[in-house]
Amino acid sequence: MSNAFIDQITHRRTIYALGDKVSHTPEQLTALIQEAVRQSPSAFNSQSSRVVILFGEHHHKLWDIVKAELKKLVPAEAYAQSENKVNGCFRAGFATVLFFEDQDVVKDLQAKFASYADNFPIWSEHSTGIAQFAVWTALAQEQLGASLQHYNPIIDEAVRQAWNLPESWRLRAQMPFGSIEQPAGEKPFMDDAARFRVFK
Ligand SMILES: Cc1cc2nc3c(=O)[nH]c(=O)nc-3n(C[C@H](O)[C@H](O)[C@H](O)COP(=O)(O)O)c2cc1C
Repeated sequence: MSNAFIDQITHRRTIYALGDKVSHTPEQLTALIQEAVRQSPSAFNSQSSRVVILFGEHHHKLWDIVKAELKKLVPAEAYAQSENKVNGCFRAGFATVLFFEDQDVVKDLQAKFASYADNFPIWSEHSTGIAQFAVWTALAQEQLGASLQHYNPIIDEAVRQAWNLPESWRLRAQMPFGSIEQPAGEKPFMDDAARFRVFK
């Protein structure tokens, strides 16, 4: 059975060899990313996801922040390798999407629905994952490559200050994207029999 959605999610891969040869305008990409996030479900339709899209100098600034924070933590002899990775795989791209979850939304839900209080932080994490996947897949449909990075929490404070973001926005992931300079290799899959159980 052919299914367009399965084709689309199969097309989404982690792309590390990114370039900035992108013909879409920032406006087109912003509309695409916004719609992917808007259409992503969230617990109680709480819409806890917050997104910052960085183009041009802002995109470069993010990855310069990452390098500056890594330099404080990574042993001097290993830093060159980290720097090359950040420059070659992420900064070389066209733009970056930052995914946050608004902790004020989570706290409000916990106060309003006390019996679910323990679940709201978990569901918030689910929600950002769903939004990330939607954006990643939408970008792939536009023949754009992306990867998913987690330099949080080491960059959180610098990011908050650089773009004057609310304290309640908790950074969950960074998604650099751009032109695909080298496609992903083949992906191994575990044995379906060990993963799925079907009763009929
Ligand atoms: C929740 C989650 C966290 C991930 N974190 C990272 C990460 O920090 N750095 C990275 O390079 N890739 C990260 N990835 C990408 C995975 O390594 C990648 O999706 C996986 O190997 C499958 O490859 P594919 O994306 O090409 O299908 C993450 C993926 C998921 C779903």
